[in-house]
Amino acid sequence: MTKYVINGGKRLNGEVTISGAKNAAVAIVPAALLVDGPCRIENVPKIIDVTLQLEILRELGVSVRLVNATTVELSGECNQDKDKIPYDLMRKIRASYYLIGALLGKYHKAEVTMPGGCNFGGVRPIDQHIKGFEALGAKISIREGGYIHAEAPNGLKGAHIYFDVVSVGATINIMLAAVLAEGMTIIENAAKEPHIVDLANFLNAMGADVKGAGTDVIKIRGVKKMHGGTYSIIPDQIEAGTFMAAVAACGGQALIKNVIPKHLECITNKLTEMGVEVTEYDDAVLVTRTGKLSKTNIKTMPYPGFPTDMQPQMTTALCLAEGTSIITEGVWDNRYRYTEDLIRMGANIHVEGKVAVVEGVSELKAAPVRAYDLRAGAAMVIAGLAAKGTTMVEQVTNIERGYENLVEKFVGLGADMYRSEIPDSSSPMPNAK
Ligand code: EPU
Repeated sequence: MTKYVINGGKRLNGEVTISGAKNAAVAIVPAALLVDGPCRIENVPKIIDVTLQLEILRELGVSVRLVNATTVELSGECNQDKDKIPYDLMRKIRASYYLIGALLGKYHKAEVTMPGGCNFGGVRPIDQHIKGFEALGAKISIREGGYIHAEAPNGLKGAHIYFDVVSVGATINIMLAAVLAEGMTIIENAAKEPHIVDLANFLNAMGADVKGAGTDVIKIRGVKKMHGGTYSIIPDQIEAGTFMAAVAACGGQALIKNVIPKHLECITNKLTEMGVEVTEYDDAVLVTRTGKLSKTNIKTMPYPGFPTDMQPQMTTALCLAEGTSIITEGVWDNRYRYTEDLIRMGANIHVEGKVAVVEGVSELKAAPVRAYDLRAGAAMVIAGLAAKGTTMVEQVTNIERGYENLVEKFVGLGADMYRSEIPDSSSPMPNAK
C-alpha cells in the first residue's frame, strides 16, 4: 500500500509553484464535449480525477492528445454508447456527473453512474442538479445498476431556475446543459466560486454566451454551435491555501507562485489574524511565520466566504495556536472525521455537530494516520510535517486525486518526506479494517 512517510518538525522554506485548479479542470474537461472542433486546454493539473475524466472521454470516442505535461487537446465527436464507459471508471470520481450536463447539452441524452468521489461521511445529494435539468425540459430517471438516465428528445429549452441551496456542482451542470439550449436560461442563487467564473470564461472562449458568472445570477443565451479554441485553467486556490496553512503550522517562509491573490483573500485574512505575515504580489504570495500562532474562529461558507475545502488544513494549523479556536462547518454536514487522527497526534479538539472547538497545544506527536478524503489527507500531511518524529499517512490515493506532486513540492520546501510503496507490517493502523 502506498503511503507517505514524513519526518516532521522542520520549518518550510523556499518556493513552490501552484498547479491548475482541480475543481475548474474537472468541469472544463467534460465541457469540451460541447465544442465542435479541437479544444486545447492548458494548465491542466496532473491528478487522478482529471486522468480518470480523460479516460472516460477516450472511452466515449473523443480523441485525447497530450500536447505536453500540462496541455491536452480534445477533439472529435463522442459515441454515446453507455457500455463504452466502464462503471468502475465513472463511480470513482464525483465530478463524473458533469458528463450529464455536457452530454445532455450536446446530444440531448446521457446515461451516467451516480457520483463517487470524496466521502466525508455525510450525504451528497444531487436534487438541485435534477431540478435544473427538468426545468430545461429533460426527463430524469434512475436505472438499474446505479445509472442516472437523462433525456430530452425535443431538445433543451432555456428556463428560469432558482436553486434552493448554493451548489457548485448544480450551477456547473446547468451551465453545461444550457449553453446549447434554445433561448435564455437564468440561474438564480448560483454559486460564485472562481471555478464557476473559469468555466464561464472557457465556454465563452469557445463561442458560448454566458454572463454574470461570479455573481448569484448567471444568464446564458443558448447558441447553436460552439467552436474550438485554446484556454488556460486558473491556478488552484485550495492547493495554494494548503501550502499557506502548512507554512503557518510548521513555521518558515515560502513564496507561493502562480496564484491569484484575490482568490486567497479569505485565507490570507485568517492567517493574518493568526499572526502569519502574508505579502501579496501580482501572481504570488510570500507567507512568513516566525512567532507563535494565535487562535481565531472560522466559519466555512460558499465563496466569497471561507472555503470548506480549507477547513481541515486550517483546523490542523490551529491545533498549534495559543488559545481556543472555534471552527464552524457551514457547507457539509460531516467533515470532521480526520480530527480523530489529530487527537491521536496529541491535539485537543472537541467536535459537536458542525462545530469543532480547538484548544491549542504546544506540539503534535507523530503517529500513523489516514487520508480519509482529499482535504483530510492534506491536513494529515500538514500535521505530520509539523509533528516531531515519523508520521505515516495511509490511503494517499485520496490525496493524489486532487494534489499534483504534493510530496515533491513539500520536499522542494525542505520537508523530509517520501512516498513509500513498500508494505510495512511494523506499523499497523489502529482499528484497520
Ligand atoms: N447540495 C444539495 N443538493 C444538491 C447539491 C448540493 O443539497 O443537489 C448541498 C450539499 O449537500 C452541500 C452544499 O449543497 O451541503 C454544497 O454542495 P455543492 O454542490 O456546492 O458541492 P459539490 O459541487 O458536490 C464542490 C467541490 C467540493 C467542495 C464543494 C463546496 C467539485 C468537484 N467539488 O462539490 O470540493 O467541497 O463544491 O465548495 O467541484 C474538494 O475539492 O475537496 C471538494 C470536496
